[in-house]
Amino acid sequence: MTSELDSLRRHSLVVADTGDIEAVARWKPQDATTNPSLLLTSAQDPRFRHLVDNAIREARGDTAAAMDGLFVHFGREILKHVAGRVSTEVDARLSFDIAGSIARARRLIALYERHGVGRERVLIKLASTWEGVRAAEQLEREGIHCNMTLLFSFAQAVACAEAGVTLISPFVGRIYDWYRAARKVDDIPVDDDPGVASVARIYAYYKKHGYKTQVMGASFRKTEQILALAGCDLLTIAPDLLEKLAKAPGPVERKLSMELALRTGGEKIAMDEKTFRWMHNEDPMATDKLADGIRRFDADARKLERLIISLAAATPAAA
Ligand code: E4P
Repeated sequence: MTSELDSLRRHSLVVADTGDIEAVARWKPQDATTNPSLLLTSAQDPRFRHLVDNAIREARGDTAAAMDGLFVHFGREILKHVAGRVSTEVDARLSFDIAGSIARARRLIALYERHGVGRERVLIKLASTWEGVRAAEQLEREGIHCNMTLLFSFAQAVACAEAGVTLISPFVGRIYDWYRAARKVDDIPVDDDPGVASVARIYAYYKKHGYKTQVMGASFRKTEQILALAGCDLLTIAPDLLEKLAKAPGPVERKLSMELALRTGGEKIAMDEKTFRWMHNEDPMATDKLADGIRRFDADARKLERLIISLAAATPAAA
């Protein structure tokens, strides 16, 4: 019996959105994505404690190095189960710091390479701020590929494509969350879902205007949102939703296509910093969710830092 997951795989590249290595091994996706919140959860999981301990031992008392090490150790383990790439996120504190983001990305890539993982297997995740996009533009020139995250507005998507980044992760669920709260409703049907509509619009624009940047729908709350984007280049999906898709029988119809994109992609927008800031600021959902997303990833990264400090106090240093 063909499941929705099998059918979806014919239209889009399926990616696992998790720091749970056993879930990655189970679902065997092409790529995997992590973020600071997912890695905070996994770092507290006794099954993966050895990865945290290794990072702490190798960092010899340097908490920032232990954070990088933890991200890279999880990334390496994940890569044992995927043929493609793993996404590793740069500290949200650097969201408005071009030079700082570039330096941190180079450091993560150097650490991956020291552990035998080539840069072609890693996507560096950066917040889709104006500064994040500029950092990504420079990193791409160095062969460091980027996945632009916390993407909520059309302005962010246009800026990323113009900068020639490898991939963007437009969020569906957090847009849905915002509109659900704003409209004071329990649910928004998928045909009216602004998160789904955002990804469909970006996909159509990119394809119509020939951008190479790949679109990976992210942040899903229900399988209907995923199925409504069948045909998107990639879809990153949490294990609980992968499970639901695997259990549901039935074919999945392609929803996004080049043919539709050519009809609906809209006119090309010239993007510069002023236009970006103006357009993004005109979108209250996107301004709220970008700021909130940076704060949330930062809060979880700080929790992770505190966890590392407390575990380091109990971990013998490397000889
Ligand atoms: C993936 O790249 C994103 O970090 C993730 O999908 C966010 O999902 P959430 O909105 O459920 O936290």
